[in-house]
Amino acid sequence: MKQRENWGSRIGFIMAAAGSAVGLGNIWRFPYMAGDNGGGAFILIYLGFVFVIGLSVMIAEFAIGRRTGLAAVGAYKSYSDRWTFAGVIGVLSAFFIMGFYPVVGGWSLAYVFKSLTGLMSDAGAIGDAFGGFIGNPVEPLGWMLVFLVFNILIVAKGIAGGIEKAARILMPTLLVLLAFLTLRSVTLPGASAGLEFIFKPDFSEVSGQTLLAALGQAFFSLSLGMGCMITYGSYLSKKETLPNNALIVTALDVGVAILAGVAIFPALFSFGMEPTAGPGLVFVVVPIIFAEMGAIGPLFGAVFFIALTVAALTSSVSLLEVVVAYLIDQRGMERKKSVYSAGGIMIVTGILSSLSLGVMSGVTIFGVGFFDFFDILTDKIFLAIGGMLLAIFAGWVVKKEDLYDELTNSGEKEFGLFNIWYNLIKYVIPIAVAVVAVMGITDIEQTGLMIFGLAIIAILAIFSPKLS
Ligand code: PHE
Repeated sequence: MKQRENWGSRIGFIMAAAGSAVGLGNIWRFPYMAGDNGGGAFILIYLGFVFVIGLSVMIAEFAIGRRTGLAAVGAYKSYSDRWTFAGVIGVLSAFFIMGFYPVVGGWSLAYVFKSLTGLMSDAGAIGDAFGGFIGNPVEPLGWMLVFLVFNILIVAKGIAGGIEKAARILMPTLLVLLAFLTLRSVTLPGASAGLEFIFKPDFSEVSGQTLLAALGQAFFSLSLGMGCMITYGSYLSKKETLPNNALIVTALDVGVAILAGVAIFPALFSFGMEPTAGPGLVFVVVPIIFAEMGAIGPLFGAVFFIALTVAALTSSVSLLEVVVAYLIDQRGMERKKSVYSAGGIMIVTGILSSLSLGVMSGVTIFGVGFFDFFDILTDKIFLAIGGMLLAIFAGWVVKKEDLYDELTNSGEKEFGLFNIWYNLIKYVIPIAVAVVAVMGITDIEQTGLMIFGLAIIAILAIFSPKLS
């Protein structure tokens, strides 16, 4: 048998797993989700979901990945054909997320250059500039392509060579930059209103939608519910303690999201803008902060967007890797060939998504354009259900002793909270996710799309024994 690729070192694994988790989800998506959903209350619920549900699911994903030494589909299948579908949903989720993620990655890349070429010379025009840019039929496509090509090149180089090296250098850069931005933001006049918005929860507006949004954000941001952490765990050496690694990755991920929130909202309130600005939030507020800094602003802006692009890249690389690992493990394809074929499809879906924000805005499926279709379908349904299935699988299919063995490295390491974790996975998480999903789906506007998503899952489940 061919020796399975492995991470070069422990810190390399943490960097890569944290690199997958920390991405556009923390810096682009988290602030606007929080803004749209009322601020502090959303953030508190999100934190609860992250540490009770997300962390537990991450531990389970690492354990199953390392135990089986296989990526998502193979890992499920090695226990039972009835469960193959749960892995297939993960691969499908990776494809769908890659349907819109590279579009936003491309925006970020574009903003590196825009920062340096006059974007910040007129703070008042920055908002309209963003709207005009993403609706343009050509420009964002070019940037998206460049972003995808980087992805393809990194994943084609393989685990330790490409992904790990890129993550090791670039993640720390991002942290330093965000800390700098946060300092700047909280010292602006009127910043306290923004801090109040994120740290003073108002639960009066919380609805089923808010809960589903917070749960979806928790899964998305931690890269859970679609086999990514199973795949990364499968490359992890038997020496590592899994719960510790999961805690470090989760804490880093949450830390970056909160840092991004503290960087954005005080500035936003200081500039007298609305928190509900939607997906443009980071691309408008951050350039304005830098524009107000004078001559040095554009340079800082460019460095910020380089770091954001890199964070996005270490995440999208993990998404592509989920698909590639599937093609290698289950289809016996070569790494390079699987990277190019998966990447090719992603170019097409990315183009459709990007155009749906401009010239193709009239083309809708279940009432939404391609961008929103991919986004809502994954974030609001596939990941949550995927996470729930993984919990059920770990709790009811995998043997308890096997999990204990894997999580304690055959009894060599302590995992004092094992029983609490196990009960969370077996009982609490499946029920909690189901309740939130039902509340959210009945409350959300796009009910048709949600039902469509559930139908795909049901069909895959029925044909599961035939899937590979
Ligand atoms: N966690 C990544 C982010 O926050 C996105 C992602 C989701 C990556 C699922 C892999 C799997 O940007």
